[in-house]
Amino acid sequence: SMTALKNADGALEIGGLDVRELVAEHGSPAYVLDEADFRARARAFKEGFKNFDVYYAGKAFLCTTVVRWVMEEGLNLDICSGGELATALRAGADPARLGFHGNNKSVSELTRALEAGVGRIIVDSFHEIERLDALAVERGLVAPVMIRVTAGVEAHTHEYIATAHEDQKFGFSITSGDGFEAVSRVQRAEGLELLGLHSHIGSQIFDSSGFEVAAKRVLALHARVSTELGVDMPELDLGGGFGIAYTTQDDPSDPHQLATELGKIVEHECKAFDVEVPRVSIEPGRAIVGPAVCTVYEVGTVKEVELDAGASRTYVSVDGGMSDNIRTALYDADYSCTLAGRRSEAEPTLARVVGKHCESGDIVVKDEFLPSDVRPGDLLAVPGTGAYCRSMASNYNHVPRPPVIAVRDGQARVVVRRETEDDLLALDMGVQ
Ligand code: LLP
Repeated sequence: SMTALKNADGALEIGGLDVRELVAEHGSPAYVLDEADFRARARAFKEGFKNFDVYYAGKAFLCTTVVRWVMEEGLNLDICSGGELATALRAGADPARLGFHGNNKSVSELTRALEAGVGRIIVDSFHEIERLDALAVERGLVAPVMIRVTAGVEAHTHEYIATAHEDQKFGFSITSGDGFEAVSRVQRAEGLELLGLHSHIGSQIFDSSGFEVAAKRVLALHARVSTELGVDMPELDLGGGFGIAYTTQDDPSDPHQLATELGKIVEHECKAFDVEVPRVSIEPGRAIVGPAVCTVYEVGTVKEVELDAGASRTYVSVDGGMSDNIRTALYDADYSCTLAGRRSEAEPTLARVVGKHCESGDIVVKDEFLPSDVRPGDLLAVPGTGAYCRSMASNYNHVPRPPVIAVRDGQARVVVRRETEDDLLALDMGVQ
């Protein structure tokens, strides 16, 4: 896990740096990104999935520094917008190592991806197949394409639902026949090169059962294409979604174990269908960056609120909230937190950590035992905030978004600076 431990003063140290010093220098709240931890997780995927290509899913968190780390560790990069493409290119990423997702990429996004030489474009609709083909033909180019299919599997955490019909916007349904039809159309299109099928079944998945059902269904289509069209697609992507532990209650499978199982499933199915094993890729986001970040906040107020039956709850307000971590409010996500700037021997009390925004759903950590002497000026650290926190941050209530500070070997570097009120006002055209 993260190289975070508490020093003799009881203060949290990350990447060899005391969070008190980090906050003194950079202010709070701040996302503290442990470079060694990020790299170790990226490397573990790369090494664990030996015969696989690993695409880091940039939607979890992306900045040019992270693009560079991903490339240095030998991973590829999954992007899903023009903005993510621009970030990757700005960082000097090899376009051939990019995969471009999205159910409604604009003509401008597709054109930029084509002209940059993006290694794979994952098509998601018949309209897009036609659109991309036309754009490629116009330019005398051939776009390398994967086809996003839905296997009728939806997985979340340790549960998955396998249904015949998936009522959602992504991909081509395998069951309805659209998946096969999409393959045929891509195969016939002059401006498109068919690389393979792509399946992504969900996020924060804890075991391999959902992947297994999806892989079987996707490989059945892969095999049908081989038999009926005489085409052996060279690639297959099984998507991302590997879960992480947010609290001590969470117990996700180790990615290495999942990798081994996925590899076995693919090989077994290919043997059963008597087709060549395609080059398999995966797209983890959360499992690489999630645990590598913790958010450090400063406590502003502490309030005791009476509940029914004489019980009470301690509300601890911090200087951020749903603008830097929407996941608790949006998904009812669980986080933990710890007193980060000092030691306390006080009795633990059940506390709720809340933000500074103007609504009561603005909760960062629903329930956590904090020392009962928690007080204004204390620092709190919330671990596991690397994925879908900064990337989903907002300016609600005109609160500037916190910086991302990368730490390594006792050195801190600001990789994304704190937003200022001037940044916010820069978009405002002034009183008209
Ligand atoms: N590949 C595709 C096609 C995806 O749509 C996603 C995530 C990933 C890979 C990466 O999934 P990961 O390994 O990070 O689970 N905002 C939500 C998660 C949305 C995931 C969207 N797609 C959250 O905060 O939980």
